[in-house]
Amino acid sequence: MRLKMLVTGMFLIWALGPVQAQQAADTIAPEGRSAGQGEISALLARSRALKDAGQPVEAKDWMIAAANPHAVEAGARVLAAGGTAADAMVAVQAVLGLVEPQSSGLGGGAFLVWHDGASGKITTLDGRETAPLAATPRLFLDEAGQPLAFFDAVVGGRSVGTPGTPALMAEAHARWGRADWPGLFDEAITLAEDGFAVSPRLASLIAGDAMRLSQFEDTRDYFLPGGVPLGVGQILRNPEYAETLRLLATKGAPGFYTGEMALDITERVQRSGKNSGVLAPLDLAIYRVKERAAVCSPYRGYEVCGMGPPSSGAVAVGQILGLLEGFDLAALGPDTPEAWRLIGDASRLAFADRGRYLADSDFVPVPVEGLLAKGYLAERARLLVGDDALPEVSPGQPEFDHALDWGDDRAIELPSTSHISIYDRYGNALSMTTTIENGFGSRLMVGGFLLNNELTDFSFASHENGLPIANRVAPGKRPRSSMAPTILRKDGKPVLIIGSPGGSRIIGYVAKSIIAWVDWGLDVQAAVALPHLVNRFGAYDLEVGTTAEALAAPLGDMGYEVSPRDLTSGLHAIEVGDSLRGGADPRREGLAYGE
Ligand code: GLY
Repeated sequence: MRLKMLVTGMFLIWALGPVQAQQAADTIAPEGRSAGQGEISALLARSRALKDAGQPVEAKDWMIAAANPHAVEAGARVLAAGGTAADAMVAVQAVLGLVEPQSSGLGGGAFLVWHDGASGKITTLDGRETAPLAATPRLFLDEAGQPLAFFDAVVGGRSVGTPGTPALMAEAHARWGRADWPGLFDEAITLAEDGFAVSPRLASLIAGDAMRLSQFEDTRDYFLPGGVPLGVGQILRNPEYAETLRLLATKGAPGFYTGEMALDITERVQRSGKNSGVLAPLDLAIYRVKERAAVCSPYRGYEVCGMGPPSSGAVAVGQILGLLEGFDLAALGPDTPEAWRLIGDASRLAFADRGRYLADSDFVPVPVEGLLAKGYLAERARLLVGDDALPEVSPGQPEFDHALDWGDDRAIELPSTSHISIYDRYGNALSMTTTIENGFGSRLMVGGFLLNNELTDFSFASHENGLPIANRVAPGKRPRSSMAPTILRKDGKPVLIIGSPGGSRIIGYVAKSIIAWVDWGLDVQAAVALPHLVNRFGAYDLEVGTTAEALAAPLGDMGYEVSPRDLTSGLHAIEVGDSLRGGADPRREGLAYGE
């Protein structure tokens, strides 16, 4: 019944224009009224209408923004019942692994940033996948010592790292949860057993990946039953996933990392056929979530806090903002080529440093402080003074107490992944970006979920011009990420919770949205919806079909190669002020919802 209401409501809203959708939503749920648990699903239609109308969702006590309505609903129930953001995250992640299996799940990894409402402390947890102990720097080289083609490396067991997400869910719940752990899986288990309607996004991604998904019989049978890709609205059941969730619910993380589940995972990886991998039960047994020092950078009176190495996210976002702080972006506004020249070249400078210095800091010294030092950024920012695109960009020389001589990494990261933002009634803020890397990861399935291909976030080459590459493969090492779960704070209080999927473009999506919110005064929905212009390595990606395309000619005149394309971010953001305001990326199926 509940499902039917949700699907009917969503369909009606999708079928209407924004204005009519807004009116329809207003008849469904008057603003400000508190929902009973059974009403949340109907009220989600209102969130959809607001999103379609380009307006933020408002609430008073708590809020969630995530990539799929079912997941938002599961998290909302937990929050409505008095659960914390950590509790809600567990429920959300369990559902996302079912309804958005291509992006994140139990077979993947995640980074979590937590602002504690009681203590005001920021904590970051690293639940990144880890290279097997038997991995070597030659993992992604062919017999001639040449890097493999990207998808030759991705599909199969070779790319699978030890999953970190189940351990991260358990760790976050143990630190900050209030709800009973087993009950957090109820909604996902019911949905897995009763079935859910395949969403338009999932259906189109399955169709687009049919060849790769068909390489493994069990994966093909799930996503392409009878050889036909699942269609929009088709009801998909996943009893195997329900069983895995029951195991996690009853035995906790040890149920996943030891015993039969660990054996099933490692056997699948080692016997994937072509491209089998070396993940072993010991790799799972020794997996640990790591607490890392939060990386916080100042920006126009805010403190921008995020995930340090092995993610490059917070360092790169912090560098971009730090490089731009001396320029009056507010006066330039979002429509001027000059603003985007500054943002684009600041991003290129950050990416040059990222390629050389960022990797797992447990394995290589990473000069985080040097890269974010005021003096270093001020010196690099001088390069931005001028009228044209920088003709070329190279890494800088941050201060550090070691000699740092690395080759530059060219690891590819394609867009996938998912982001969850939550604020709870206790004043806790959670920002978590979660992934299985490429869409559908390694394409290998175990226990009803997909295994990641996160190891392809390592540099395939181990050396460049005779110099070792910081982000090369090593046993037990975590691949460099671009994930940038972020919390902005002012006077020690959270004011913006944000993050996005999108491979290495995540950095640009997050930085742009922060600039839009801080400098251009856009509300949280408008900030995430603002058309993207992303520059990582010199070419300027402009979001097709948006006003960004109008900047193609002037940016071209400045010397950029411009490249119009889809830029499918999945930004989810919550603004914390007198009230809570949530925004969900119009490019994906997510919603914000709160009470
Ligand atoms: N695999 C996406 C990222 O970690 O950035």
